[in-house]
Amino acid sequence: MDRYAVIGNPIAHSKSPRIHSLFAAQTGQTLSYEALLAPLDGFAATIAAFRAAGGRGLNVTVPFKLEAFDLADRHTPRALAAGAVNTLAFGPDGVLGDNTDGAGILRDITVTLGCPVAGRRTLLLGAGGAARGTILPLLEAGPASLTIANRTASRATELADEFARAGTLRPQGCGFAELAGQHFDVVINATSASLSDAAPDLPAGLYAPGSLAYDMMYGKGDTPFLVQARQQGAARLADGLGMLVEQAAESFFLWRGVRPDTTAVLAGLRAAL
Ligand code: ATR
Repeated sequence: MDRYAVIGNPIAHSKSPRIHSLFAAQTGQTLSYEALLAPLDGFAATIAAFRAAGGRGLNVTVPFKLEAFDLADRHTPRALAAGAVNTLAFGPDGVLGDNTDGAGILRDITVTLGCPVAGRRTLLLGAGGAARGTILPLLEAGPASLTIANRTASRATELADEFARAGTLRPQGCGFAELAGQHFDVVINATSASLSDAAPDLPAGLYAPGSLAYDMMYGKGDTPFLVQARQQGAARLADGLGMLVEQAAESFFLWRGVRPDTTAVLAGLRAAL
């Protein structure tokens, strides 16, 4: 049987085995998918053992996404843009590194939530790995504008400059205070503020009528960012559970060539939170 796994440290909490098992059952694909704990200093060795035992592909999570990038022989353009890899595929011609996180969030926003990005003013909060992986897919979606704002402004301007290419929309980078007086239709939180139970220190009045606030984090109730967004007038709120399921579906598609239906899987995960 074809073997797949998610590799990380820690890994016991991962929802990926459940998601991929549901995808396999739904699409009639015969495969196994497990959770693989790698020692912090044993990522490459764990992968080598998994491949030797017939492993076909891996999802990669914290803290190994950069190591996975280095380990891959070839990269998809979106993995190159993200500078990180969350999906590995093992084939006869070596290891392919992909990154499905950005495609996952875009699909969740535009398809599942039915919220267009094309032609809309878009704000991305944060300048770490989570933000970086979202920039190329966001630019490809054709927003009216893309602003990257970060607590440490210089990281946002550097990131925006990195993605400024001739002939395409040029992202703007700034600190939070410089957002005052601006209005956005789609606001995505890619900071890790929620992990410390905090919301980014944003000026009020950012949310345009009909706007979406999207937090890449998720939990049982609203995250601190979503609580703040509601108070500040966002019309729609969404957390990152949908992104989790969509990035998994994108990995499944890369490995198996079949796109699973994410609707029922997402509903099941939501009910179990
Ligand atoms: P990840 O890979 O998850 O993006 P990271 O690279 O550590 O993690 O980046 C964390 C991001 O969250 C950064 O943009 C960080 O802002 P700084 O660059 O100023 O450190 C942001 N962040 C973390 N805690 C925050 C908080 N309480 N308020 C606002 N931004 C925060």
